[in-house]
Amino acid sequence: MAIGKSPLCYLSFSLFSALLLILLATLTSGNGLQTPKFHGFSFREITVQQIQLGFKRNQFTSRRLVEFYLKEIDRINPLLKGVLELNPDALSQADKADHERSTKAAISLSPLHGVPILIKDNIATKDKMNTTAGSYALLGSVVPRDAGVVTKLRKAGAIILGKASLSEWSHFRSNNAPSGWNGRGGQGKNPYTGGDPCGSSSGSAISVAANMGAVSIGTETDGSILCPSNNNLVVGFKPTVGLTSRAGVIPISPRQDSVGPICRTVSDAVYVLDVIAGIDYNDKATIETSRYIPKGGYAQFLKADGLRGKRLGIVINPFYLGIGNDTIAIIEKHLNTLRKRGAVLLDNLEIPNLAAYGNSGSAENTAMLAEFRISLNEYLKELVASPVRSLADAIAFNKKNPKLEKLEYGQELFINAEATKGIRKAEKEALSFMNRLNREGFEKLMTKNKLDALVTPTASVSPTLAIGGFPGVIVPAGFDSDGQPFGLVFGGLKGSEPKLIEIAYGFEQATKIRKPPKL
Ligand SMILES: *[C@@H]1O[C@H](CO)[C@@H](O)[C@H](O)[C@H]1NC(C)=O
Ligand SMILES: *[C@@H]1O[C@H](CO)[C@@H](O)[C@H](O)[C@H]1NC(C)=O
Repeated sequence: MAIGKSPLCYLSFSLFSALLLILLATLTSGNGLQTPKFHGFSFREITVQQIQLGFKRNQFTSRRLVEFYLKEIDRINPLLKGVLELNPDALSQADKADHERSTKAAISLSPLHGVPILIKDNIATKDKMNTTAGSYALLGSVVPRDAGVVTKLRKAGAIILGKASLSEWSHFRSNNAPSGWNGRGGQGKNPYTGGDPCGSSSGSAISVAANMGAVSIGTETDGSILCPSNNNLVVGFKPTVGLTSRAGVIPISPRQDSVGPICRTVSDAVYVLDVIAGIDYNDKATIETSRYIPKGGYAQFLKADGLRGKRLGIVINPFYLGIGNDTIAIIEKHLNTLRKRGAVLLDNLEIPNLAAYGNSGSAENTAMLAEFRISLNEYLKELVASPVRSLADAIAFNKKNPKLEKLEYGQELFINAEATKGIRKAEKEALSFMNRLNREGFEKLMTKNKLDALVTPTASVSPTLAIGGFPGVIVPAGFDSDGQPFGLVFGGLKGSEPKLIEIAYGFEQATKIRKPPKL
């Protein structure tokens, strides 16, 4: 794998994308009389809309698309380790989708029908695949049913291509484990730099960035969608907590966990969100949160002029500090683009209680350790069969298998969580501290200034959003001077997805930064 950081290398990226654009233009502009030959190459960077158009014109089948991704996974996954398992039934599911399309009116089919998707390995699939959060401790466990989001994906006709790798246990075993590492799959790699993919939804981001799948889903408790999307130059969408079902997802904290899309474009992410959002009676939070879902779904907010009239907040301290000058120059250009497209930027805003946010990490940690023990034990108890039945069992498993599970990385979060005894005084204080912080901090900033979104570079805003269950979308913004990709996050109040989509789509259409890695 040739991973380069030189300007020359980016030049070749651009040439490569130009060629791709020409190819895709040929693919999408034809009058249907000629069927272009689909060399695997031309599927690279294909969008959900282009896939549906290709299906409609009989230019290719879902089987052909699955075969392309299987070939790419075979070729590059040994280096990138973004995919943990393949679904042995992916091809037969594709055949079924192809057959359905030939018999049903296209209008009745979901935009994800026949589209291959990769699922983070902490999301249960009741099929031939394992659901392990990357750990040998769960290898061979049998889940009672598909996760709520997987049920919705299957109903929509999506093809479950495989399980994406992740930071083991969504990075809640030890802080010393490297991002993107898990016992079963090893170390995932960033396809642009060869280095840190960030986690914990590392494999979901690596895989779509490197065109090993059409779309993917990941999960976020604090940064696990936004950060890998930042590092791998893709779009990550962390929905309002409870908008998407967490039933059947190996948990950290039901108060903060959220399942969301990781895709190459904003529109792809929105098509996925439209399918996975909504009520699931196995996750009661989805009932209350469903009031946020607009009639007609989210795709209606993919508007080219979505930035017009939007009020966007800029908070320099802390979000723009410690960023290199070259990167700041790129960001300033983007902020100007936002203005030119009709957004009103309110700069030099301040988070009202910034100092108190300094203590948010420790409060979050206190609450999460106890919530993890309770919710993980519930998840493990529900399994039909499993090598481990409790957090205590998982700790013992790691001690018994120090090589397999690289115990040298430690398991102090497991041990500290096991020492908790439910939501008691310390946890209650931490929770009320965070509630006050949200109310007097982020929420006040947003409402006082009538903001539609806060704009921040990289994923550094993730704790601010995480502790309040707030949504955020990250969109590719460029490369820093080390060749590391980064994105811009648009974060908002609960239920503000429609506005975030308008803003993120408007920014993406105005900039079109994303380029595939050179592999
Ligand atoms: C699931 O794990 C078992 C080992 O317990 C393995 O034999 C099997 O191949 C795995 N499934 C897939 C689809 O990789
Ligand atoms: C970055 O910009 C600031 C202000 O313009 C300047 O003081 C500083 O020297 C610059 N740093 C580098 C490394 O160029």
